[in-house]
Amino acid sequence: MELLKLMKHRRSIRKYEDRQIKKGDLEKVLQAGLFAPNAGGGQRSMIVAVHNPELVEKLGRLNVACMDRSHLIGSHVSAEQPSIIDDPTIKSGFYGAPTVCIVFAMKNFLYSIPDAFCCAENMVLEATELGLASCIIARGEETFANPEGQAYLRQWNIPENYEARCFVLLGYCKGDYPNEKPRKPGRSMIVEE
Ligand SMILES: Cc1cc2nc3c(=O)[nH]c(=O)nc-3n(C[C@H](O)[C@H](O)[C@H](O)COP(=O)(O)O)c2cc1C
Repeated sequence: MELLKLMKHRRSIRKYEDRQIKKGDLEKVLQAGLFAPNAGGGQRSMIVAVHNPELVEKLGRLNVACMDRSHLIGSHVSAEQPSIIDDPTIKSGFYGAPTVCIVFAMKNFLYSIPDAFCCAENMVLEATELGLASCIIARGEETFANPEGQAYLRQWNIPENYEARCFVLLGYCKGDYPNEKPRKPGRSMIVEE
């Protein structure tokens, strides 16, 4: 698909089929993440892909457990693809996706968070090109800030000076894929002199 068309087509999907994605597609999405722009050319970010729905579900519950929803009452994200903010009965912050990619970046590096989200953006675009559904998820730091989360980090040999910054969910959209979302006006300008 032409790139701008693909960017407009990409939506955050929070309803997933049970079907797992192919390992070959996952490898392409990881490649896209690794080829993201990165501060100073340091290539510091690291990605762990969890290609196991039961483990994704456990991590998704840790992602919700760490969240205080009380101050979000009245907020709204999406009627078609409800988020944990829209629907407090949702138990996993990963919405039943069969695969999650965890983007890690250094704790003490100024551009650690932008680096991680550049990876995530490349990954969701590649996923869209492959016909996969995806969603970027926050609260990486909090998700692993508990004994269960810390045990996973040790199991995966994540260096001490690295922190989970965000997640990319991957799977197949269950039901209708949402339409392109209109943009708020007046958010860009071109200055020529
Ligand atoms: C920095 C960032 C953090 C996000 N965190 C979450 C999240 O924790 N949970 C979630 O369901 N969606 C999350 N999203 C997805 C946004 O809610 C989504 O991009 C936004 O509502 C616009 O919808 P669209 O992606 O379908 O255009 C995040 C997106 C970004 C860029």
